[in-house]
Amino acid sequence: MGIMKMYKLGIIGFGSMASSHFRIISNNFHDPKLPGYVDNVEVKGVFDLNSKRMEAAKEYGLVAYPSREELLADPEIDIVLVATTNEAHMENCIAALEAGKHVICEKPVTLNSQELEEVMAVAKRCGKLFTINQNRRVNRDFLLMREKVESGILGNVYVIESRVEGSRGVPAGWRTVKRLGGGMMLDWGVHLIDQLLYMLPQKITQIYCKMLSVQYPEVDDNFHLHMTFEDGLSAIVEVSTNNYITHPRWYVSGERGTMVIEDWECNGKIIRRTDSDDVWEEEVVMTAAGPTKTMAPRNPESTETIELSMPQGITDSLSKSYDQLTAAIEGKAPLTITAEQAMRVMKVMEAAFESAEKKKAIDVEL
Ligand SMILES: NC(=O)c1ccc[n+]([C@@H]2O[C@H](COP(=O)([O-])OP(=O)(O)OC[C@H]3O[C@@H](n4cnc5c(N)ncnc54)[C@H](O)[C@@H]3O)[C@@H](O)[C@H]2O)c1
Repeated sequence: MGIMKMYKLGIIGFGSMASSHFRIISNNFHDPKLPGYVDNVEVKGVFDLNSKRMEAAKEYGLVAYPSREELLADPEIDIVLVATTNEAHMENCIAALEAGKHVICEKPVTLNSQELEEVMAVAKRCGKLFTINQNRRVNRDFLLMREKVESGILGNVYVIESRVEGSRGVPAGWRTVKRLGGGMMLDWGVHLIDQLLYMLPQKITQIYCKMLSVQYPEVDDNFHLHMTFEDGLSAIVEVSTNNYITHPRWYVSGERGTMVIEDWECNGKIIRRTDSDDVWEEEVVMTAAGPTKTMAPRNPESTETIELSMPQGITDSLSKSYDQLTAAIEGKAPLTITAEQAMRVMKVMEAAFESAEKKKAIDVEL
C-alpha cells in the first residue's frame, strides 16, 4: 500500500457549519473508530470576516489568516471550503479556483444559475475540481425511501412526497434576509430537491410552487413545490417553519402500495396489496364516513404490512463529500457531486421562485 496523501484544507467562512466540517474532519473532535471520519484531510487554517470566529479558530489550534488572499497564497492549502453566507459563495469560489485550489462549496452553491455558470467557467479555465457539499444524499431516510421505490415493491410509483417541518421559525440572522440568500427554498429546499433529482434522471416538465412568509416578511419561511416529470411521476416538496404537528418525512404512493417513513429515525411501514382483483360489495357499506363503497374498509387479508426501520451500515456523514473529492483529485473516480447536477437543482429553484411570483405553473424542460 502506498503512502496516503494528506490534503490540507483552508476554510473561508468559519461559522457554525464550517465548525461542523472541522469537527468531522478533525480527529481532535471525532472518534476515528466511528464511521464518518475523514482520514486524508486536515484543516490548516481559516479566514472569516468576524474576529470572534478568527479567535475561535486560534483556540482550535488553526491558522487564522489575516486575509483571504493570505489563505489563498499558502501553497500548502490544496482544497478550499467555502462556507460563508450564501451571497458570498460565488466570489469566494472564483477567488479560490483562480488561486489554483480545488473547491468544495456549501449549499446552495450560488444564488442563481448565472452565478453558477460563472463559477463553472472559472473551474474549467483553471483546471481545478469544483464540488458542493450536498451531504443529504447519504441520509438514511432518503436511501431507505429510494431503495424501496427502486425495488418495485410499491408497483409503479406515481407520487413521492418529501417534507421537512419545524415550528421554531427561521434561525435569526442572514437566513431571514433575502439579499444574503435567506429563506427556506435555498436552505432546506436545495437539499430536498437535490435528493429527488439525484434519484430521478427523467425530465421535469412542469414546476408549481407556492411560497409563504408567515413570520418573516422578506423570505419564504414555508413553501410547497410540485414537480411533474415526463413519465407522469409527481414529486412534492414541502418545507415549513411553523408546523407544531408534522406530516411524515416521506409519503410515497404506488399503484400496489403506500409507504410512509415517519421521521429521521426511519420509523415507517409499507402497506401493499397482495390480491389482484377487487371484489365490490353489492350494496353500499355503512361506515364512519357514512354510506360509501369507495371508502369502505378493505378486507385485511388483501394486504400485507412491512415494518421499516433504520438501515444499518450506512455512513450518514458529510465525510462522503470529501471522499468523493479526494478520489477525483487522485483520478480514482469522477466527482459524484457535480456542478452540472447543482445547475439542474438551481434551475428548478429558479422556476419555483418564478412560479410563486407569477402564481402559476411554469413549463420547463429540466
Ligand atoms: N450542508 C448543510 O447541511 C448545511 C447546514 C448549515 C449551513 N449550511 C451552509 O453553510 C453556509 C454557512 O452557514 P452557517 O449556518 O455556518 O452560517 P454562519 O452565519 O454561522 O456562518 C457564516 C460565516 O461566514 C462568515 N462570512 C460571511 N461572509 C464572509 C466573507 N466574504 N469572507 C469570510 N467570511 C465570511 C461570517 O462571518 C460567518 O462566520 C451557508 O451557505 C449554509 O447554507 C449547510
